[in-house]
Amino acid sequence: MTADPSLRTVLVVAVALIDVDGRVLIAKRPEGKQLAGLWEFPGGKVEPGERPEAALIRELREELGIEVSASCLSPFVFASHAYDDFHLLMPLYLCRRWEGTVVAREHSALAWVRPEKLADYPMPPADDPLVAWLRDLL
Ligand code: CDP
Repeated sequence: MTADPSLRTVLVVAVALIDVDGRVLIAKRPEGKQLAGLWEFPGGKVEPGERPEAALIRELREELGIEVSASCLSPFVFASHAYDDFHLLMPLYLCRRWEGTVVAREHSALAWVRPEKLADYPMPPADDPLVAWLRDLL
């Protein structure tokens, strides 16, 4: 299927936080939101004029209560998916260092999951292809 070229593109940044045991953090979207109940890589929209890394640092502070430094955010792969009403472009960053303990401020649950188990968690279609990429990388 070809994506509708009139769809607006939304830039969302997401992160795979990786703990010392090599587990990856995923977060469950709460009731009342689009894609409720699915597990996603945390992140959010980049505001106009905002640098992607700054957006991710802001989102991680707001959503999980942790502090991340831009120098700890390493290269990424892009996810791209045409939802019904917008086209999502989403770089996934890797991050192995942060300050603080993650707290679910905007999600209904958090889970630290081994890369080979990520496929057991239903995810939004944009996030799905990232799972195989992470499994190969980690
Ligand atoms: O979560 P919310 O809908 O409030 O907004 P957001 O975090 O700024 O993300 C915007 C949209 O991007 C979400 O509604 C999802 O459709 C999509 N998204 C996704 O597919 N996968 C993610 N890991 C994060 C967001």
